[in-house]
Amino acid sequence: MKILVTGGAGFIGANFVLYWLKQHPEDFIINVDKLTYAGNLENLKEVQQNPNYSFLKADICNREQMEKAMQGVDTVVHFAAESHVDRSIMNPEEFVVTNVVGTQVLLDAALKANVKRFHHVSTDEVFGALPLNSSEKFSENTPYNPHSPYSASKAGSDHLVRAYADTYGLPITITNCSNNFGPYQFPEKIIPLAITNVIEGKKIPIYGDGLYVRDWLYVEDHCRAIDLVLQKGKIGETYCVGGLTEDINNLEVAKKILKILGKDESSIEFVKDRPGHDRRYAINWTKIKTELGWQPQYDFDTWLEKTVAWYKENQWWWKDIKSGTYKEYYEKQYGQK
Ligand code: NAD
Ligand code: DAU
Repeated sequence: MKILVTGGAGFIGANFVLYWLKQHPEDFIINVDKLTYAGNLENLKEVQQNPNYSFLKADICNREQMEKAMQGVDTVVHFAAESHVDRSIMNPEEFVVTNVVGTQVLLDAALKANVKRFHHVSTDEVFGALPLNSSEKFSENTPYNPHSPYSASKAGSDHLVRAYADTYGLPITITNCSNNFGPYQFPEKIIPLAITNVIEGKKIPIYGDGLYVRDWLYVEDHCRAIDLVLQKGKIGETYCVGGLTEDINNLEVAKKILKILGKDESSIEFVKDRPGHDRRYAINWTKIKTELGWQPQYDFDTWLEKTVAWYKENQWWWKDIKSGTYKEYYEKQYGQK
């Protein structure tokens, strides 16, 4: 099988490429990535020489390049996106361009190339926010209600994917997953930001009151979920994917990280809140469990310990990133630190 992965140099995409070539060594992967600030070929070092892997530096908005890349492709797994909520608040336009227009260009190219499957990787943020202290969870039937430019652009892309299935018969599947964490995550997202800041002797910036809740999904569990959807998922269907956390708020996550690293809570710093900050996410993943037999391999604490260990052992990876243009972003977002 020939798989075109978009955004394979980013966090989840790279984990997926590494995962897939291990689990399905007979398949071919072509990784299409523009290499924005979030794309890093260092993530893919171990497969660079693999004859079943190739890389194309290209923008998913480039129609000609996408049509060419799509020739002979069986399956598309679409990760490429602008993915950070805070950056979408600073500069919404590039989110609309990549996430909405880029997805539409890919859908056209996939249709033209007659691909057998277009799998779209989306987010639980399209559903909006849940109240604190409720047992409510997002599911495949939850209406869309996005609040940030990021989530609105992802919602737009989801609607386009479904529209291409309904209108043109494109064989699609979608996953809407919760917050991923694990190796190779860009240190602007809270878990790698917190871990690397603490290792560097800096504080963990916590937005607002810190009582915001996310549903944490380890990236490898997510890759297995996509694998199952590609192999056994029903065409046209959406699957929600979440982790094994029961309403852990950001303050608790920060405290767990500090405990693993042997530091006390004086390393927590409250900073100004994110505008339009979604209070709580929680995912009901019953459908993918009952229909496809998926569930996370370990609980949050176990995966968090492994993740902290990875960032401790791989400082070469994130120290390089944190010393570059990242510094400008950090100063803009958090003030001079
Ligand atoms: P990321 O920001 O780490 O990586 C995105 C990748 O896409 C980068 O390699 C970047 O270079 C590439 N890219 C960006 N614009 C491009 C363009 N125009 N053309 C080609 N490549 C481009 O993102 P991630 O966290 O790995 O997220 C991957 C996907 O999963 C996204 O679609 C995101 O919305 C979705 N998602 C992420 C999470 C999460 O917690 N990280 C949760 C749910 C859904
Ligand atoms: O829910 C899935 C989404 O998860 C994905 O679609 C997005 O691509 C991904 O970035 C992530 O979005 P979040 O906004 O939830 O992730 P982030 O790591 O930015 O923030 C997680 C929580 O931590 C959120 O409540 C905001 C808070 N936070 C974040 C940062 C960066 C802080 O308190 N301080 C921070 O410095």
